[in-house]
Amino acid sequence: EFVSMLSHDFRNPLNTILLCSGLLQDKEEQLPKEKKLVHFRLIRSAIKNMAQLLDEVSLISKADSGKLLYQPNQLDLKGFCHQLVEELQISSKNNHQLVFTSQGELREALWDERLLRHIFSNLITNAIKYSPTGGTVLFELIAQTECVTFRIQDQGMGIPPEDQQQLFQPFHRASNVGTIPGSGLGLAIVKQCVEAHGGEISLKSQLGEGTTFTVSLPY
Ligand SMILES: Nc1ncnc2c1ncn2[C@@H]1O[C@H](COP(=O)(O)OP(=O)(O)OP(=O)(O)O)[C@@H](O)[C@H]1O
Ligand SMILES: [Mg+2]
Repeated sequence: EFVSMLSHDFRNPLNTILLCSGLLQDKEEQLPKEKKLVHFRLIRSAIKNMAQLLDEVSLISKADSGKLLYQPNQLDLKGFCHQLVEELQISSKNNHQLVFTSQGELREALWDERLLRHIFSNLITNAIKYSPTGGTVLFELIAQTECVTFRIQDQGMGIPPEDQQQLFQPFHRASNVGTIPGSGLGLAIVKQCVEAHGGEISLKSQLGEGTTFTVSLPY
């Protein structure tokens, strides 16, 4: 059933491809060459990302572990986060402003890019989805000696205290979501990925004020 959970995360790259190719088609004449190149680059990376997801699915079924595997590799972490924010900014159709900042000195380390992508794309798309149009979503990377801390902060609807404990369970949605669509699977995937990375996740939220998710990954 974990495999079917992963199909949840195919939606993001598909969305990117749909939007970017639509833009390239509709604005064929007006778009400057550099902009076109950016969109082509985003399409290619979304396709690469989908191919990775497929590999992941077949790996999990082969390993028959029903669990995500941790496969660390050399990665430019800042560059990766930057590009992810660029992708999600396009998918958000500019209704929200995504801001990425980083502080501290990052040393070279190994990361599992696929796990990171599950974690941050779900947290950032939630931050967008559960906050009003025009809102700002902050994505911070803080490099420390033993771990890297990531914070995703929004100024949205917040999460009622009584729902906060259960959010990481599959299909659980908070009582204040109203008509905002969702399956309640995103955070369950995030949690598994954070654990596969040996990290921790926590949240702070104030109803009507906003929510901050904090992810700490050792390195
Ligand atoms: N940034 C946020 N602000 C407010 N509520 C949030 C936020 N992130 C998550 N939630 C709450 O946590 C619930 C679970 O989130 P999760 O991402 O697992 O599912 P979902 O967004 O409802 O659906 P999907 O499967 O499409 O991601 C949400 O339904 C929402 O109630
Ligand atoms: Mg979600």
